[in-house]
Order: sequence, then C-alpha cells, then structure tokens
Amino acid sequence: MTAESLGRAAQSRIYRNGALGLSVKVPVNPGRLERDAQEAMSATAWGYIAGSAGMETTASANRAAFARWEIVPRMLRDVERRDLGVELFGRRKRTPFLLSPIGVLEMISDDADLAVARAARALEAPMIMSTQGSRPMEQIAAEMGDAERWFQLYWGDNDELVASMVSRAEACGASAIVVTLDTHILGWRTQDLDLGFLPFARGQGIAQYTSDPVFLELVRRRAEQPSTGDRPRPTLTALRSLASITSRYPGGSFLRKLRSPLPRAAVEIFLDVFSRSSLTWENLEFLREHTSLPILLKGIQHVEDAKKALDYGMDGVFVSNHGGRQVDGAIGSLDALPAIVEAVDGRVPVVFDSGIRCGADAFKALALGATAVGIGRPWAYGLSIAGEQGVVEVMTNLMAELDITMGLAGAATTSEITPDLIRTAAG
Ligand code: FNR
Ligand code: LAC
Repeated sequence: MTAESLGRAAQSRIYRNGALGLSVKVPVNPGRLERDAQEAMSATAWGYIAGSAGMETTASANRAAFARWEIVPRMLRDVERRDLGVELFGRRKRTPFLLSPIGVLEMISDDADLAVARAARALEAPMIMSTQGSRPMEQIAAEMGDAERWFQLYWGDNDELVASMVSRAEACGASAIVVTLDTHILGWRTQDLDLGFLPFARGQGIAQYTSDPVFLELVRRRAEQPSTGDRPRPTLTALRSLASITSRYPGGSFLRKLRSPLPRAAVEIFLDVFSRSSLTWENLEFLREHTSLPILLKGIQHVEDAKKALDYGMDGVFVSNHGGRQVDGAIGSLDALPAIVEAVDGRVPVVFDSGIRCGADAFKALALGATAVGIGRPWAYGLSIAGEQGVVEVMTNLMAELDITMGLAGAATTSEITPDLIRTAAG
C-alpha cells in the first residue's frame, strides 16, 4: 500500500465493512477506544495503564497543550500524492510513528509483547522494547524479522547489568538505545496506590532481568552473603528453584511458565537494582563506551536539558513526560516541545510523545518541529480489545488520520507540515 492511499484505504475498508453489516471492533473514536479498553481490562491493569501521577494534572496538561494549538488549513495545493515518510538516523521510515515503550504488558495478556512485535512489523513502525517488558527481548526480536526495533533502557543500580542489557539489545538487532531518565523512582501513582498494586513486586514486568546472565549472577551472589537482618536472604530453596527453572527455559521465560509463586530472590534483587537516582550526565560516557548505536534521552522537558544532551554528544532528544505518570503538576509535554526544537536546531532528531490521541495531534507535534512521534496508551488500549490486530488497527487509524489531515491542511509531505500551518488558539 502506498502512503498516498493510507487514509482513503482505511476509510473505505471501514465503510465497506459497515455496508456489509460488519461493525468496528476496535473503536476509532479515542474516547470510545478508552472506554472499551477499560471494560476489557482488570481493575488493576486499568489503574496501572491508564493511571497517572497524583491528581493526574500532568496527563490533563498533555491534552490541554494540544487543544491550545489549531491547524489552519491551506487550499489549492497539489496534495494528491502524499508521503508520510520521515528520515530518522539515516533510515527512511514509512510514517513518523513509533511504538513508545510500554512495560508489564502481561497485565493485558501473556504473549502481549510478542503480539505487539508482530503488529509493529506489519505496520513498519519501530517498536521500542521496554526494560520492563514481560518477555525477554530475544523473544520479542524473534517475532520481528527485519523490522526495526529500538531498546529502551532503565539505567539501574548496576552498570554491569546495564552493559549486559545493551549488548543483548545490539545482538537483538536494536538500531537505537532510548535511555529513559524520568523514572528513576516510580511516580506517586494514586490509582495504583489505592489498589496497593505494584506489578514488579509481584514478579511482573521483570523478564529482561530474569533472562539476563548478570542479573542471575547477582541473585546467586546474594545467596552467598550472610543475612544482614534488614535484608532477608533468599532461601536456598528459592535459589535452587530459580536455577532449575532458568536452566529449563534458557532465554528466561520462566516466570510465565511457572505456575507457583516466583522465587522471591529475583524480585528482591530487581527491586534493589531498578532504581538509580544518583545518575548524572557524567554517567552517559559509560553508555557511549558500551554501544555504537544512536542514544536518545527520553523524558526531556527542560530546554537546558536538551542543550546538555547535545553537549554530552547524545544522538537524539525524546521529549516526553511519561504520559503524566511521573511528576504531577508538570508542564504538558507539547508545551515543552517548541523551545527544545529551537535549541536543538536540527542537529539531532527530536522525538515526541505524551498525549497524542489522534492523527491531528501528530500533525501538531510535527508542525512544532518533532521529527517523529511516539504512541503509548492508545495502542495498549487496542491490544487489550483485540490483541495484535487491535494494535494494528489503532496505529493504522492514527496513520490514516494523519494522512487525511495532511491532505486537507495542504501538506503533501511531512516536511511540508510547517509551523505556519498551526497557530495558538484564540482566546
Ligand atoms: C509507559 N511508559 C514507559 N516508558 C518507558 O520508557 N519505559 C517503560 O517501560 C514504560 N512503561 C509504560 C507503561 C505504561 C502502562 C504506560 C502507559 C507508559 C511511557 C511511554 O513510553 C510513553 O512515554 C507514554 O505512554 C506517553 O504518554 P501517552 O501518550 O501514552 O499518554
Ligand atoms: C511505568 C514504567 C514501567 O511507567 O515505565 O509504569
């Protein structure tokens, strides 16, 4: 399918099906998509996925920021042939959409990461595999063929583990490393707190760790340490069971296969190593030494941090506030974008996420200078309703709407989505 026909093709398919009496299973309307996803999910999954930090004002600010910009369409431009493609790290992409990293997808279904990988492949949209994935990255990558994938890194409290994950990502064919900086502590997530629910403490979302040789070595070493009172030592039985399970399931999908409670040791070590609030700009050198892949910093909202990213030789800036899940009362992510784009001045790509719910939102972010846009919750909602197909449909609808918005606003290519096509809302 050519990009030109993307929007029309999606419309025709849906209307043709409608005429045949086939209704849409994955709602196109963003509000309805959310409502159906809530119905499809458990209360804890919904709280975790849809929830944000505190009073959830940052999540609202993300949306409000989009509402403050208005598209001003231009007429009588030849927009018959449209191209949604963008150039990113020397590669031409079919569309500007990326699948932002989402961890703990086992809350939706056991094989969710694999379904997303297949969807990303079909969509030709890069999947950003999460450090908090529910399947080892090797399994995810195996579903993707030659399709592009990136790896999102949480820089925990153990550099050896960081290096190990990065080298596994390289071996899995990742073409960029996204270091997420805004989540060295989990935000104050009121919905999860009220449910007393933290997936990691229950052994969910730690498959990248339990499939990692460095992590398993940490678990083994912990067992050899004398118990120190305040830190309980994993029991030998737990370790034996961990060892036997991992040897039965090399690649580390043991948590999924294990019906009995997972060894406490792995969870404890994970909780120890996940967080590293002492990280500073100087640490980035370590990562640079350990990979030749492009490195993007995710979670950038302050223009000075964007400048620092350049000073420290980073290859891309990922403007994001984690969908409002981290700092409550913070700036809407789109409001942070223009100044960052200005400071970066085309020297590296600027990827944007947090709050995109429709194709017109993507148009606005591109008009404000984003090179590419990340989609988060919407594809997770599609996944909860219809698995792999749900991800494909949600993303296809976003692409289709962007294509149609471009045509109707007078932009035949993404480079023609210029700032003069939007203005701040009057009043
Ligand atoms: C996330 N996000 C995220 N980011 C990241 O770098 N690593 C991760 O593991 C996760 N996990 C995660 C789980 C869930 C359930 C959500 C909703 C989000 C943040 C994600 O990549 C992205 O920045 C936000 O989802 C963007 O906000 P919206 O547009 O989804 O509201
Ligand atoms: C979250 C982590 C996994 O937002 O990034 O829940």
